[in-house]
Amino acid sequence: MSGKNYSKAVEDIKATVNIVDVVGSCITLKRSGSGYTACCPFHNEKTPSFSVSDKKGFYHCFGCNDHGDVIKFVEKYYHLDFQGAVEKLCAQYGITIEETAGPADRKKEEYYEANKLAARYFYDNISKSANKGYDYMSGRGLSAKTMQYFGIGYGGDGWTGLTDKLLKEGVRKEVLTDLGLSREKNGRLYDYFHGRVIFPIINVRGKVIGFGGRVMDKSEPKYLNSPESAVYQKKYNLYGLNRSKDAVIREGYAILVEGYMDCVSLYQSGVENVAAVCGTALTPEQSKLIKRYTKNVVLCLDSDAAGIKAALTGIDVLKEAGLEVKVLNVDDGKDPDEYIKEHGRDAFLELLQKKSVPGVEYKVNILKRSYDLKDHTQGIKFLQELAGIIKKLSPVEGDIYIQKYSKEFGISEGALRREVEQAGDGKPGDVPLRRDVQPEQPEKTRQPSRTQLNVEHMLIRLIMLKPAFLERTRDYPEAFVSGRGRSVIAAMEALYKDGELDMAALRNELSDDDLLYLDRIEEKIQIGEDTEKSFMDCVSRLERARRTARIEEIDAILDMSDTLPEEALDQEYINKLLMEKQQLIIKNKGEN
Ligand code: CTP
Ligand code: MN
Repeated sequence: MSGKNYSKAVEDIKATVNIVDVVGSCITLKRSGSGYTACCPFHNEKTPSFSVSDKKGFYHCFGCNDHGDVIKFVEKYYHLDFQGAVEKLCAQYGITIEETAGPADRKKEEYYEANKLAARYFYDNISKSANKGYDYMSGRGLSAKTMQYFGIGYGGDGWTGLTDKLLKEGVRKEVLTDLGLSREKNGRLYDYFHGRVIFPIINVRGKVIGFGGRVMDKSEPKYLNSPESAVYQKKYNLYGLNRSKDAVIREGYAILVEGYMDCVSLYQSGVENVAAVCGTALTPEQSKLIKRYTKNVVLCLDSDAAGIKAALTGIDVLKEAGLEVKVLNVDDGKDPDEYIKEHGRDAFLELLQKKSVPGVEYKVNILKRSYDLKDHTQGIKFLQELAGIIKKLSPVEGDIYIQKYSKEFGISEGALRREVEQAGDGKPGDVPLRRDVQPEQPEKTRQPSRTQLNVEHMLIRLIMLKPAFLERTRDYPEAFVSGRGRSVIAAMEALYKDGELDMAALRNELSDDDLLYLDRIEEKIQIGEDTEKSFMDCVSRLERARRTARIEEIDAILDMSDTLPEEALDQEYINKLLMEKQQLIIKNKGEN
């Protein structure tokens, strides 16, 4: 598809194609004044508010505010991406798209081709004769038909089968290593995906862009994924969408799950409108991709801590892109794959109907869980955070939730409304802060100090030296103050298991920028023999920072109490705060 001069084609389209002609072939247009009107094809309406102007070459809907040129219309109407829309129009109007085939495009073609050959090799392995991969996959309930439909394969028992075959077919060595199909060791090439079952990752244009390979026993890492390459950038893709996009359009919503297996298994069971984010945080790019097919998403992630965290950030990212988000937690510790295998399609859909909640409600539920509402101070904090969540909503939606939650938590509507008005924008308070559900926070407006960054870097370096430290940093999520730091620690979390961290796999997972950050830390941060001592140094700095923060918080509460008449104050509570503050100050002095 690449290697073509699209910008020239776009010029030609604009010069020759009449938007009224194109739109008129899709929906019935009525002449009106200087343009044309119709009922908008992109939202439900009975009276026309969709208007097309051939003079301007634009459409605009006054109902849903959607607008654009002829290419945008074709993209939306036929659920195509930009290139797809350009190609469709060119084919229809006899415009030729000139080949440019710059070096970058030629390279991409070469890489796609190599991936395609690899996918064929893997699929042949699983489908042609008896093999362990087939046994494993059918043992997990997948039919041969499903394997074929998703192109699921097997890496083979040998260590060089794929490498040998692709070299023989003329694939260059550098391409094999760039794509992560082969690894070089002691001057020889080995199959990276040896002995694993393979999920080819195919984009919505049908190109094989990468692979995920799962071990067939309990060893680690459970999955190996292709590294990012000229043809694979994971932030742009959702696994399985190449197969499920029609169902997504048909059903009017997409179910997003965490893993390859969840996606394939749901599909096979008859829930076809599903795609997988593959264990990473949802990105704005993925949201945009989904939005091409639907505006409604149900996030159906695992209900473990990582899944909850991913849901909380996912909600924001999806909403930001203008999608309607619901969240479904599959209960009893199962992931969607296990659930649907055990209970079947109908039970799953019923669960979806009954148990999925709008993103906002999901956030509030999680928030509620992390506070003891019987405790006065915690109750106040909870309400402040609740207000932060509501503040992010549109006025209409916000109003509905103010009514709902003031009833539910027994506070007056007016009080909650004032709290919402006062809630800070994007500051802490709009997401739960407790560590068991610590979500990724939007970049704080306050810049981290040099000391804070130093602690962060030390901890990352310490974990690289001795991965078991990772478990002990979990008590201090606030230690990771930079965006990079948070993204690296999240990647480490994902790969960490029983005191081990596969650094090679980690490097594979990280973006270029994150890698740079990691390399710099490795180079710059010196740690002595006594790693335990260095770690405890960090901990005491973090504890100290916590005390300082609490002192500031107490001061703020005391300040606020000044505005109230004496009778309204609970003197006992105030005294308690004063004492706590005193002790914190002493402690911080003592540690100097
Ligand atoms: N993942 C990964 N690397 C790992 C573990 C997980 O890339 N070491 C990604 C994979 O895309 C995986 C997803 O995270 O599909 C979800 O992980 P998990 O729930 O552990 O895997 P499942 O897909 O449920 O796989 P299975 O049921 O086979 O264990
Ligand atoms: Mn699973």
